[in-house]
Formats: sequence, structure tokens, C-alpha cells
Amino acid sequence: MSSSKINSSTMFFFIILMLNFGCKEVVENDKKTENKEMEDPVSIVESNYGTTANGEKVKQFTLQNQGGIQVSIITYGGRITSLKTADKEGTYKNIVLGFENLEQYEKSNPYFGALVGRYGNRISKGKFNLNGTEYILAKNNGENNLHGGIKGFDKVVWKVEGTTISDSEGSLKLSYLSKDMEEGFPGNLTTFVTYTLKKDNSLDVLYEATTDKTTVINLTQHSYFNLSGDFSQSIVDHKVEINADAFVKVDSRLIPTGELASVESTPFDFRKTRLISDGINAENEQIELGGGYDHCWVLNHPEKGYRSVAKAYHSGSGRYMEVLTDKPGMQFYTGNFLNGTLPAPNGGVYSKRSGFCFETQFFPDSPNQPNFPSATLKPEDTYTTKTTFKFSAE
Ligand code: GLA
Repeated sequence: MSSSKINSSTMFFFIILMLNFGCKEVVENDKKTENKEMEDPVSIVESNYGTTANGEKVKQFTLQNQGGIQVSIITYGGRITSLKTADKEGTYKNIVLGFENLEQYEKSNPYFGALVGRYGNRISKGKFNLNGTEYILAKNNGENNLHGGIKGFDKVVWKVEGTTISDSEGSLKLSYLSKDMEEGFPGNLTTFVTYTLKKDNSLDVLYEATTDKTTVINLTQHSYFNLSGDFSQSIVDHKVEINADAFVKVDSRLIPTGELASVESTPFDFRKTRLISDGINAENEQIELGGGYDHCWVLNHPEKGYRSVAKAYHSGSGRYMEVLTDKPGMQFYTGNFLNGTLPAPNGGVYSKRSGFCFETQFFPDSPNQPNFPSATLKPEDTYTTKTTFKFSAE
């Protein structure tokens, strides 16, 4: 009798316990739902990324929206180290080329994911004349200045101004003070770059700068995209559209000749979506000079300001990217200088054409080309420009 008493009280105890668990579960589930509803549209996680060879601490910020897009940015070069987006099946993969650690970013320089400055692309013979003064720049590309010089904005540690989260987006604001005559450029240039990940699966890059002396400026973002998410694959199977009737012709040094050539009936005509592989190996002097595509497109409708200028699509994964900018030009570079010597995080190497860049910008060598839109910034003005990369899958 006593044992059945124990049994029934034990049973009773278990029933109470189970009911309790059940209730708890419900409460917790409610909480989860409640929390989800209240969750920020974008979460931002800060971590330590490493220390540079000269002892500077580098941070990483990972922004993720509720849709699942995740972008990681490090303060070294303001670089995007990873950008995960969904394919048509909803599988998230990193679609930007990058390295595994800071040491590799410091060692090799294809400008993976970097903020490029003070002047994106080449300035002929590393010099230019501004209001009667000749400025001699650092030369890091034969006799030319490329992407700001020996120590461009891609190789400095940017200061964190802060992070913000609003109803529809999350932002990371970085800054860098480029001193007067750094790499030969005049003026103390105060630069801010704000990365904003939005609810609508777009990533804005906002650039702002002021100077205390008249200078030239051309900031851009140098991410290499491979929408397949498989970096062992070439990007020539991507389809591209660029809203441009003309492109900037180059000479054998990849310096603009000054001519803005029509794209009509050339491999440079991307006004209708076409495969990169269609024209990249064409017998064409400009293609041969670039070793593929490495040219600045003269984007249509600069008078409209911020507008949709380009698209890329990878049919295998269904990933789709749209680019919007207020800039007059976009360098479309097909990773022609990648040569299988740099390590990819998955153990492979980055081969020629394993990524492409859409670098929105002023035209290359504008400081020496009076007919190009001016890249001059005066002390009384503020340089402000925005580029958006918008992602989807279909
Ligand atoms: C730019 C240039 C290329 C090359 C890469 C970096 O896109 O146009 O010629 O220098 O940067 O490797």
C-alpha cells in the first residue's frame, strides 16, 4: 500500500513537473516570438580581428539583417571581408573574395574588399597640376600612381566613429584623416565612410570628405564579387548589364587616352544584359590592353544623380546584384591580374577572373584630363557620394 502511495505521489509530482515544463516552454516560445517582433532590423557584433605588423589593433564589425544578409567589415582598409547572401534555394554563401587573416591582407594586395583612396585608379606619371602647382605623387604602378599610392586608404586602420541602428537599417561609420601631402596629395582630408545594411537587402556605402586645401579625391569600394559563392569558379559565366553608351579608352599603361569611345558594336556594349564570356576574349585592341575588362564605363544620365547603373546575375545560383550610384563612372574589372598565387580561405587559390569589381568613381586620371568631370575638391565644398549594392535571388 505504501509503495502504491509512493507511486501515485511520484506520478503526481511528475505530472506537475511536466505541466510546469510545458508551461515554461510556452512562455519561452512566447518570449521568443515577442523578442523576434522587437528585434532590431539589423544586428551589429563587434570583435577583435588582429593586430597589424606595426602594432595597431584592428576591429571587425558584422552586420546582419533579419533577411539573413551578413556583411563583415574590418577597420584595416575599411575592408569588406565577407558578404553572405542567399541563392535561389535560400542557401547563404559568402560572395566576396577575401583572406583568412589580417597578416594575409597586409602581405598581398589585390585590394580585396578595400576602401580605395585618396584617388581610385591611375594618375598618369604620378603627377598633376592644380592651380599652377605641380604635385608629385608616390608611384606604385610603374611610373603611375594607382589607388592612392604606396600606402593608400586600403592599408590604413580606420577609426570607428560609431554604430547606429534605426527602424530599417544598421550602420557602421568609419573615418580617416589623410594628412597634407600624404602620398603627395595636398590638403588635410577628413574622410568618413558609412556602411549601411538595410532591411531591403541593400548595402549603402556613403563617402563624405572635406579638405583644408584644394585637392583631388576619388573614393571607391574594391570588393571582388563572385555571385556563385564558389571562388574556384570563373566569373565569366555571369551576366552583366551596364547602363553606359561609352567607355574610357586606355593606352598600354591602362591610362586614359582622353577619348570616350562608343560601346556600339564592341565587346564593351553591356546596355543589354550579356554574358561576360561573350566579349572578354574578343579580338579587340582595348580588351587586349586590359587583359580582359579593366575599363571605366561612362555611365548614362549623370544629370539624374543617384540612379541604377549596373546589374550582375549568376544563373546557377540565381544571385542577382544591382548597383546604384551618383558617380559618372564605373570601373568594371574582371580580376585579370589574379594569377593563382593568393590563398582562398577554403584551401584553394584565387585564379584569374575568380572575381569582378564594380568600382563606382570619377574617371581614372581625371586630374590630368581637362575634358573629364572634375575630381577637384575645394575647402568650401563637401565631397558626398553614395553607392548601393542591392541583392536578391530569382
Ligand atoms: C583596379 C585597376 C586594375 C588593377 C586592380 C587591382 O581595378 O583598374 O588595373 O590595378 O584595381 O589589382
